[in-house]
Amino acid sequence: MGRKIDYIIDLLNFYKALGFKELPNDFLKSLLKNSHSKSVKTESLLYSIVNIQSKKNNENLSESLIYNDDFSLSIGHKKNSAIDKLNQEIKECKKCPLSNSRKNPVCGQGNINAKLMFIGEAPGVDEDLQSIPFVGEAGKLLTNLIEKMGFNRQDVYITNTVKCHPPANREPFESEIEICFDYLKREIEIVSPKVIMTLGKVATYALMETKGKLKEIQISKIRGKVFFYREITVIPTFHPSYLLRNRKDKWLTWEDAQEALRRLK
Ligand code: URA
Ligand code: SF4
Repeated sequence: MGRKIDYIIDLLNFYKALGFKELPNDFLKSLLKNSHSKSVKTESLLYSIVNIQSKKNNENLSESLIYNDDFSLSIGHKKNSAIDKLNQEIKECKKCPLSNSRKNPVCGQGNINAKLMFIGEAPGVDEDLQSIPFVGEAGKLLTNLIEKMGFNRQDVYITNTVKCHPPANREPFESEIEICFDYLKREIEIVSPKVIMTLGKVATYALMETKGKLKEIQISKIRGKVFFYREITVIPTFHPSYLLRNRKDKWLTWEDAQEALRRLK
């Protein structure tokens, strides 16, 4: 029951992210039917959630009917085309100076319906060459963590705050993070995960949306404190590259991962 409601809420957020301001009643009805909810109680509860969502967003989702043929397409198809469009833009992007030094932009990878998303800092040397996030040494550590949590890389969604490798592996500048943020924002909207684990201070800073404070962020002080980006739970933790140098802090990341698992339930 709870999962059905989560599903409907996710779906509404998803359509909102795709730009739909209104949904046809027929569509909502078929959604309820497809969720196999026979009882009137469940149905009215779901309808009230729809209304709460629409009021919250100051939109009237259920009353007026702007019909869009795209509704006949499957959800998977819509998500796929949204992510394809996004990735195409990233591949051609020249919006910040990192486009001059990168070899290849690195788009997110994994399950676009994932409930759990990992956000790193920026592609490293290996990622720049292969155009896949987290494939180097830090990536192996992240893969281990994902597997220890009971998933495969294909089950979750993995991406970076900035999509291009900064020269000499330096930290991305605030200006670069800000320019690139539109891509991350859209990625999060499309995937619409329940929980995000931010790996290190850059990703954490980006989702905190506080400008000009990157230097002040200390991940060791922030981790262990959960916050929200839009309505998504964000669990900040150490970056795997830091853990490669400070193995004793791995258990703290494991604590954060367990918190993520609890929040996914
Ligand atoms: N570090 C990151 O932050 N991202 C990668 O993809 C690889 C290393
Ligand atoms: Fe574009 Fe982001 Fe790459 Fe900069 S880092 S060029 S904004 S994709």
